[in-house]
Amino acid sequence: MNRIAFVNGQYTPHNEAAVHVEDRGYQFADGIYEVVPVVNGRLIDGIGHMERLRRSLGELEIPEPMSERALNLVIGEVIRRNRVRNGFVYIQITRGVSPRDHAFPEAPEPAVVIYARPKGPAGRRRNAEDGVTVITAPDQRWARCDIKTVSLLPNCMAKQAARTAGAYEAFMIDQNGMVTEGSSTNAWIVTQDGVLVTRPVSNRILNGITRLSLMALAERADLKIEERAFSRDELYAAREVFLTSSSGMAMPVVQVDDRVIGNGRPGSVSSRIVALFEDYIAGDEVDAAAGRTFA
Ligand code: PDD
Repeated sequence: MNRIAFVNGQYTPHNEAAVHVEDRGYQFADGIYEVVPVVNGRLIDGIGHMERLRRSLGELEIPEPMSERALNLVIGEVIRRNRVRNGFVYIQITRGVSPRDHAFPEAPEPAVVIYARPKGPAGRRRNAEDGVTVITAPDQRWARCDIKTVSLLPNCMAKQAARTAGAYEAFMIDQNGMVTEGSSTNAWIVTQDGVLVTRPVSNRILNGITRLSLMALAERADLKIEERAFSRDELYAAREVFLTSSSGMAMPVVQVDDRVIGNGRPGSVSSRIVALFEDYIAGDEVDAAAGRTFA
């Protein structure tokens, strides 16, 4: 089947889809993106992702290129044309094409690329069952990690360090020895008293939509959550560790650097959280994260 991408108003064969050499996304990483899961043909947390997309555009003063209704129509059309029942939709919006100049152009015409990729649940389920391993790496990013920009080089370097070490993810550590987040995930621990801990929202982390939906699901399940920074030592000593992201939902972590977490198998709280997510994405509700932070 031929894949189709939406590029600046046109549905284009994926292998011909291209952007201009003077697109500011290419020149300056001057753009933002979202990755939205598709499960059984439906967007998961579509509202939350759109809220964050608008916030990212606003923080960078990139004008909204189309109405929310139009954007949702195109997303639906891209999913339909690519026959994605399970997978992901990628939405990338840059400040568009203009003669090279670091300063913003006066009348930007944002460029919009939307494409979809099928991916079944098998890999996610296997990781959820076996758990994954994580390394720690220095957080080398800028001071606006709350904006979901396409400027991801430090994240790519951290992820590559994880790959090289045979690990799934790298948790990044700030200059005070505290965990910020994963290279493309949010980091969580479960304390010895069973409390879920994750770093509070600030300019140092991306406010994950999966993080927000987990907060909604955990509240309903009477799980206690504390939003506070935790150190690498606390991470090593945690009863359980897990991570959240749109691509993996919730994933138990069974080893951090050379420390085995618990007995090296996914713990009971992480497994419960995985189950909460599986029920959530299979159920009727698809927008647990909506309105929680970006309203
Ligand atoms: N990554 N932190 C960072 C740095 C991320 O890039 C991501 C998402 C997250 C989790 O956010 P969410 O739950 O909204 O996916 C946290 C996506 C999946 C990616 O870049 O592919």
